[in-house]
Amino acid sequence: MNRSYDFSGRNVFVSGGTSGINLGIADAFAAAGARVAVMSRNAERVRAAEAQLARHGGEVFGQAADVRDYDGVHAALAAAHARFGDIDVLVSGAAGNFLAPALGLSSNGFKVVIDIDLNGTFHVLRAAHEFLRKPGASIINISAPQSYNPAPMQVHACAAKAGLDQVMRVLALEWGEHGIRVNSISPGPIEGTGGVQRLVSEARPAVEGRIPLRRMGTLADIAHMAMFLGSSDASYITGALIPVDGGVSLLGGRNYARPAEATAPSP
Ligand code: COA
Ligand code: NAP
Repeated sequence: MNRSYDFSGRNVFVSGGTSGINLGIADAFAAAGARVAVMSRNAERVRAAEAQLARHGGEVFGQAADVRDYDGVHAALAAAHARFGDIDVLVSGAAGNFLAPALGLSSNGFKVVIDIDLNGTFHVLRAAHEFLRKPGASIINISAPQSYNPAPMQVHACAAKAGLDQVMRVLALEWGEHGIRVNSISPGPIEGTGGVQRLVSEARPAVEGRIPLRRMGTLADIAHMAMFLGSSDASYITGALIPVDGGVSLLGGRNYARPAEATAPSP
């Protein structure tokens, strides 16, 4: 049981909740007593995440779906709702990313990231609305520093995450009257995650030397903010993009660029 928060009797749904940051969030809510549902494409990863979450002793549920498939997303949310009841905390964290210069991206390469990160998040939030606790639900999007810092090799992710933040703000306006809060967390580089593996190739000391707090973040750093946003302590917070990044947001757009990669020729 997490000492800071008690989510007993509360229902949490995490899209992309089968690895990395999102699984860390799901795990923290499960440890704090919540019933937790996860959804991602790969059924084996869904089963593995269920097994990890179940170790905390609470109810868990998982269903495979691709966020690009609205009907599949709706079915997973409906199944979680049928099992647990109204969703108190919805986390939209599924994403896809890779390093590529604009001239190395096909139309489909750009589109696939927009489809997963931006359209996928709209699908999750739009499909979830009927299943959310009203009033009281908290929606948490997982954004990234690319949403406000232009970064070389990341035109697809920058566009997708910037769009995702505007989805968050518009729905905060539209759904405030339903008692639904909508916010985004913008993580810095989080150690041990798929994102860092894909996007950060420099030696760790070089990366950490440029982070104002001089360390990468941990899964717990992000999970703590998610639990805060999911709790009544955050009941007057909506429409906010909250960096949890050791100060990376202060550095501007080129802070993630490894010189060798930033100038890499198009594939
Ligand atoms: N550079 C340039 N283009 C790339 C690329 C790269 N490194 N990786 C994929 N693409 C392009 C492909 O060439 C393809 O375009 P094409 O049809 O014109 O050839 C397009 O992207 C789609 O690729 P595909 O492999 O069919 O997509 P997918 O749906 O199977 O996978 C990805 C989606 C590409 C985002 C994949 O990396 C993924 O599943 N990621 C999930 C995990 C992740 O990214 N985690 C980090 C989160 S920050
Ligand atoms: P990760 O470990 O690669 O996890 C991505 C998750 O999303 C997986 O569970 C994956 O499962 C799922 N997923 C991917 N595509 C999907 C799709 N089309 N439909 C449904 N699920 C899908 O990623 P991570 O690095 O922890 O990043 C998690 C989130 O944090 C992302 O939103 C990312 O942009 C953001 N972020 C990460 C960092 C970082 O340092 N890692 C920094 C800033 C922001 P399946 O493969 O089974 O689908």
